[in-house]
Amino acid sequence: MPLTIAMDGPVGAGKSTIADVVARRLGILHLDTGAMYRAVGLSALRRGVRMDDEAALTALCEALRVTVACTPEGQHTFVDGEDVTGLIRTEEVSMATSTVSKVPGVRAAMVRLQRQLAAETPMLLDGRDIGTRVLPDAPVKIYLTADARERARRRYEQLREKGAEADFEQVLADLRRRDEQDMNRAVDPLRPAEDAVIVDTTGLTFEESVEKILSVVKERTEHE
Ligand code: DC
Repeated sequence: MPLTIAMDGPVGAGKSTIADVVARRLGILHLDTGAMYRAVGLSALRRGVRMDDEAALTALCEALRVTVACTPEGQHTFVDGEDVTGLIRTEEVSMATSTVSKVPGVRAAMVRLQRQLAAETPMLLDGRDIGTRVLPDAPVKIYLTADARERARRRYEQLREKGAEADFEQVLADLRRRDEQDMNRAVDPLRPAEDAVIVDTTGLTFEESVEKILSVVKERTEHE
């Protein structure tokens, strides 16, 4: 199996941006698996599929062709050939995706796809269940977290930078709701794998977080 790094953690822990930089420094690809679930969430919203209709969501997911292109500028995500990269980052899609990703049929389809991709190329995958479900044999597993207020503050600042209207208390409440859904769902809830190294980025700078992860990777791969 090519080198795979599993990175899991809750929303706002900085996974995507940290994962991008870590993967680039290691010269491997970064697969943002959340974007794949978001592609399904967006499609469900567009087609008006009810969020509690598991059979319809599973059928939708099996009919869709979700593909990704990992480029030096970041990942592009496609649904049936349409580039949806810019469309999947809204709060509406975030909330829908957290619901859609509870459906076992949706998860099964995504896990299958992610395993195929990881078998082809060395990569770092970031998500919620990479270390526990998608790649339980990955040699390096990292669980990236930070306290909820800190994660909400980062998310709030991101939204403000993009010029979006944002209310901190609302961002914090949404984040707690998504944590609650992601951690308490029946199938593959978010939790650290037993052999994951937990990296808490509360109080760490971006660079310190990257360095910490690189040192975990080095340590784990040296002992292989
Ligand atoms: O990482 P993100 O915020 O882009 O993820 C969007 C949603 O997708 C999130 O609510 C949890 C879900 N997800 C998942 O269930 N499993 C993954 N491997 C990745 C994301």
